Amino acid sequence: MQILKLLLMVSVIAVVSIFGFVYSGLYPIGADDSHTRVVYWALETLLERSVANASKDIVVPALDDPKLLLAGGPDYNEMCASCHLKPGKSESDLSLGLSPEPPNLTISDGDHGDDHDGPEQRFWVIKHGIKASGMPAWGLTHDDQRIWAMVAFIQKLPELTPFQYQILTARTSSNEEHSH
Ligand code: HEC
Repeated sequence: MQILKLLLMVSVIAVVSIFGFVYSGLYPIGADDSHTRVVYWALETLLERSVANASKDIVVPALDDPKLLLAGGPDYNEMCASCHLKPGKSESDLSLGLSPEPPNLTISDGDHGDDHDGPEQRFWVIKHGIKASGMPAWGLTHDDQRIWAMVAFIQKLPELTPFQYQILTARTSSNEEHSH
């Protein structure tokens, strides 16, 4: 009994302190100051687990279809490169100013240390966005086909030279109907 009472008291104190801290306004929320380790760990884990869970039933189409790749390039360049960069560019105002930092998608997966990057996870993140981060939900304004095209494109992105990137992202008459 004694131990139960003690446990109860400790949990009440913990809950009250957490609420007190949240309410105190002492946590630095500015994007120019990174999260403390504990908060960063909690948010990253929440993100990884949530995306893995939400994307587990998604069926991935054939991503090596050249048409998909060609359709994804111009969209990526117009909607994503400002944050996620392009070959030959290692930073931008947005990539530097946002926290969490947008991952550099011109570097292959292993190198930026994310393990929630399978095509189905990427598709989910692009479609639904990530709350309280700079990543918008593109699915509100773009259909699944267009999102898969960008997934196909970012899979190839780390291998592209600046010149290849320029060619693959140019709008041509065949993908013009997609422009907005
Ligand atoms: C305004 C900046 C911004 C724009 C524009 C943007 N993103 Fe993001 N994106 C982010 C941020 C920030 C994150 C990381 C969020 C986090 O880790 O909490 C992210 C995460 C992602 C991820 C998860 C990557 C990983 O390895 O974890 C993918 C994939 C992605 N974005 C693709 C895209 C695509 C495709 C577009 C264009 C349609 C796009 N983003 C446009 C800011 C942006």
